[in-house]
Amino acid sequence: MQDNVIPHNFSIGKAERTGLKGHGAFLVWFTGLSGSGKSTIANAFEKHLAEKNIHTYALDGDNVRKGLNKNLGFSPEDRTENIRRIAEVANLMVDAGLVVLGAFVSPYQKDREDISNIVGPENYVEIFVNTPLEECERRDVKGLYAKARAGEIKNFTGINAPYEAPVNPDCEIDTTSTSVEEAVEIIFEKVKSKLQLDNE
Ligand code: ADX
Repeated sequence: MQDNVIPHNFSIGKAERTGLKGHGAFLVWFTGLSGSGKSTIANAFEKHLAEKNIHTYALDGDNVRKGLNKNLGFSPEDRTENIRRIAEVANLMVDAGLVVLGAFVSPYQKDREDISNIVGPENYVEIFVNTPLEECERRDVKGLYAKARAGEIKNFTGINAPYEAPVNPDCEIDTTSTSVEEAVEIIFEKVKSKLQLDNE
């Protein structure tokens, strides 16, 4: 199908675009159970970057599952396709010169490896928000764990669908022992060299 698709070589590439921005471009990926704190930490981290004039974009369920991926559910196949499309979008945004944040359950190890391959391992930073299931269920911010326990949601990650923990994440954060501010600090230290800021 793609045999006759021949890419055009544009003169302006990632290097020129990141040059304009004055910082590196890469993907910071937050994986973990629903309610683990991925979006909260991603949000605080994005604010921290914005204060340093770093151009970011956060991808999360609201802007992806309600738009681009609104035809996808939570079967294993749909989750894989969800993550694949997000990784392709993130790849374009990284190429555009942005620091992209992605906060998705992304429960399968293979899917996360694919993200790394799509954006390039050098552009992929994996943050495992490792909040224990009991704590996510206790918080139950969206009331989904209660529904899953009552059998009203099939395939709910942690209850009746698997979560494959990352084998070798760049950072691991347990929100029962690490504050949001501390998490931001830890992640910033991790990505500092990739940001290539003059004054850091
Ligand atoms: S992923 O598995 O495909 O990466 P994604 O991060 O997009 O999932 O969406 C997860 C969010 O959708 C959860 O935080 C939760 O609010 C909601 N959700 C609804 N149904 C499910 C389900 N069956 N499993 C997990 N999350 C679900």
